[in-house]
Amino acid sequence: MNTWKASAPANIALIKYMGKEEGNVSTNASLSMTLSSFTTSVELSLIEENDHRWEPLSQSLSLTPKGRDRYLSFFRFLCEQLSLNQKFLVRSGNNFPADAGLASSASSFAALTMAAVQAQAEIKGTSQIDILSAAKLSRKGSGSSCRSFISPWCRWENEEIRAVPSSLPPLVDLVLVAADESKKVTSSSAHQRVRTSALFEGRVERASIRLRKLEDAMKAGNLQQVAEESWAELWDMHSLFHTSQPPFFYFAPGTMKALRWAEDHWEEKGRGPITTIDAGPNVHFLVPQAEVEYYRREITALGFPVLESGS
Ligand code: PMV
Repeated sequence: MNTWKASAPANIALIKYMGKEEGNVSTNASLSMTLSSFTTSVELSLIEENDHRWEPLSQSLSLTPKGRDRYLSFFRFLCEQLSLNQKFLVRSGNNFPADAGLASSASSFAALTMAAVQAQAEIKGTSQIDILSAAKLSRKGSGSSCRSFISPWCRWENEEIRAVPSSLPPLVDLVLVAADESKKVTSSSAHQRVRTSALFEGRVERASIRLRKLEDAMKAGNLQQVAEESWAELWDMHSLFHTSQPPFFYFAPGTMKALRWAEDHWEEKGRGPITTIDAGPNVHFLVPQAEVEYYRREITALGFPVLESGS
C-alpha cells in the first residue's frame, strides 16, 4: 500500500497576521521564524471507502470533532485542487504537547499540504508543484501555515511568500508556559473580532511600518531594535483583543510576570530577549543560541515550565 509522509514545522510571528478577510486573505504583511523542533507529521494512504478518514498517528492525541471536520474539509479542497479523485486515510500527530498552548494549525496544515502534493506527483506521475504554489494552497487552510514552507525567516505579503535575509545570530525560541488550558477564543474568531476595535483603524499602516523597520534591523543584525519592534507588535495585537467589542484577553497571571521580567531585564542590563506572544497566554523569548542556558536558568527560577525550539 502506498503511503506518503511529510512533516512541517510550526512558526512564531514577530509581525502578526490578524484581522483576516474571506479566504484567509491577510490584511497586513506578517513575518515569522520557523520552529524546527515543533512539528506535525502526516501520513496519507489510499483506502477503498466512500470518503476520506482521519486517525491520530500512534501516540498522538485525537483532534476534537470540530478540528477533524476542519482538517478533512481542507483535505477535500486540496484533493479537488490537485485533481485527486481517490479516497485517503489521513493520519496526523504533533510532536509537541497539545496543552502547551502552541498553535498547531500552521504545522498541521502545511504538513497535510506537503503530503498531498507528494501523493499527487506520484499518483499522476508528474513532478511536484513548486513550494510557493504549495504554500499558497496551504494558506487557504490556515493563513499562518504558508510561512512554515520557508525557513528560518519568512515574510508573507499578499500573494508573496518569501525568505527574509537576516544577520542575527541563530535564535532559539524559549516558550514560557504561563497557562495550559485551551483557548476560550480561537484565533479564527479573534481575526473577526479585532475588526470591531476602534484601534483597528490604522493597524495595517502600523504593521507595515513596523515590518520595514524589523527587516532593516534584521539585516543589520540589530537585536535590540528587533526586540523593540517585536515588543511594540505584541502590544499592538493584544490591544486589539482588549478593545474589541466585546473585549477578550488571553493573558494569564504568569504572562504579566514574564513580560515584566523581560522589561526589567532590558532596563537593568541593556540586553534581553526578543519577546512575543501569539493568540494565547504563553510568552516566547527568542534568544541567541549561545545564551540559551542563561535564559533557561532564569526562566526556571521564575517558576515557568519551558519548551524550546531553534529555527
Ligand atoms: O493562521 P491562523 O488563522 O491560525 O492565524 C494566526 C494568528 C496568529 O498566530 C495570532 C499570528 C500569526 O501571524 O501567526
